[in-house]
Amino acid sequence: MTAADNGTTPATRPVIVIHDMTKVYLMGEYEVRALNGVSVEIDQGEFVAIMGPSGSGKSTMMNMLGALDKPSGGQYLLDGIDVSAMSDDELADIRNRKIGFVFQNFNLLPRVPALQQVELPLIYAAKRERSERARRALELVGLGERVHHRPSELSGGQQQRVAIARALVNEPAIILADEPTGNLDSKSGTEVMAIFQRLNREQGITILFVTHDPWIARHTRRIITLADGIVVRDEIVPTPLVAGQSKRPSDEALVHE
Ligand SMILES: Nc1ncnc2c1ncn2[C@@H]1O[C@H](COP(=O)(O)OP(=O)(O)OP(=O)(O)O)[C@@H](O)[C@H]1O
Ligand SMILES: [Mg+2]
Repeated sequence: MTAADNGTTPATRPVIVIHDMTKVYLMGEYEVRALNGVSVEIDQGEFVAIMGPSGSGKSTMMNMLGALDKPSGGQYLLDGIDVSAMSDDELADIRNRKIGFVFQNFNLLPRVPALQQVELPLIYAAKRERSERARRALELVGLGERVHHRPSELSGGQQQRVAIARALVNEPAIILADEPTGNLDSKSGTEVMAIFQRLNREQGITILFVTHDPWIARHTRRIITLADGIVVRDEIVPTPLVAGQSKRPSDEALVHE
C-alpha cells in the first residue's frame, strides 16, 4: 500500500522525477544533443534555480519538464504520472492542470486587460468563477489595483506579475519560469523574486526557474547547474537571500562609485 492509498501524506514527495533524459535535435545531417542524460528529482515545495552557460540545455530541459516538447529518451514522472508515454492530447491536459509557465518576454496578449489575460487558462480548463479567481490571483501578485490595465499601460515588472498571476490561477503543482527576470531591471527582478518566495513559502508551490544571474539564484534554496546537456552541479543554498532585504553587490559598488 502506498501513502496515497491510505490517505497519509509523506513530509515530502517528488513532484518531478527525470531519469537519464536526452533530447536530440536533428539539423539535416547533424545531431544536436541538447540534453545528454539528465537525472534530477525535485520534491514538492522546492524552490530551484537552473543555471549554466548559453546553449547548455536549460530551456530545452524546461520545455521537457513543462511537457511542451517530448524528450528523445529517458523517463519523466510528473506528480507520479509517466509523461514520457503520453499522447499529445494528454500532454496538453496535464500542462493545463499541473503546470504554470512564466516566460522571459511575458507572452501577454497586447491589447487585453490584465483580468482577461489571467482568466484565459481558466477558460481552457472550463473552470467556473473565472473573474473572481483571476482577481484573487492578481491580488496575490500585488496588482489588485491594476486589473483593467492593458500590457502597454503596465511597467515591465507589472507585466511579468500579470504573467505570474496567469501561471498560478489554475493552482498548478509547479511553476516553471525561463529567465523570468531576464528582461527586468534590478528592482522589478527583486519584486518578482519576492512574489516567488511568498508563493513558495505560503502556498507551497514548487518553483523552478532559469537564470543567468548568480545573485537572483541565491534567493532560491537549490541551484542546479547544467553544462553541455548534463548536470554538473546540484547544490543547496545554505542561507537564501530574502528578496528586498539585501542589496546586489554590484548595486552597492555603484553606490560607492
Ligand atoms: N529547436 C531546436 N532545434 C535544433 N537545435 C536546438 C533547438 N533548440 C535548442 N537547440 C540547441 O540545443 C542546445 C541547447 O539549447 P537551449 O536553448 O536549451 O540552451 P539554453 O541553456 O537555454 O541557452 P540560453 O542561456 O542561451 O537560453 C543549443 O546548442 C541549441 O542550439
Ligand atoms: Mg534558454
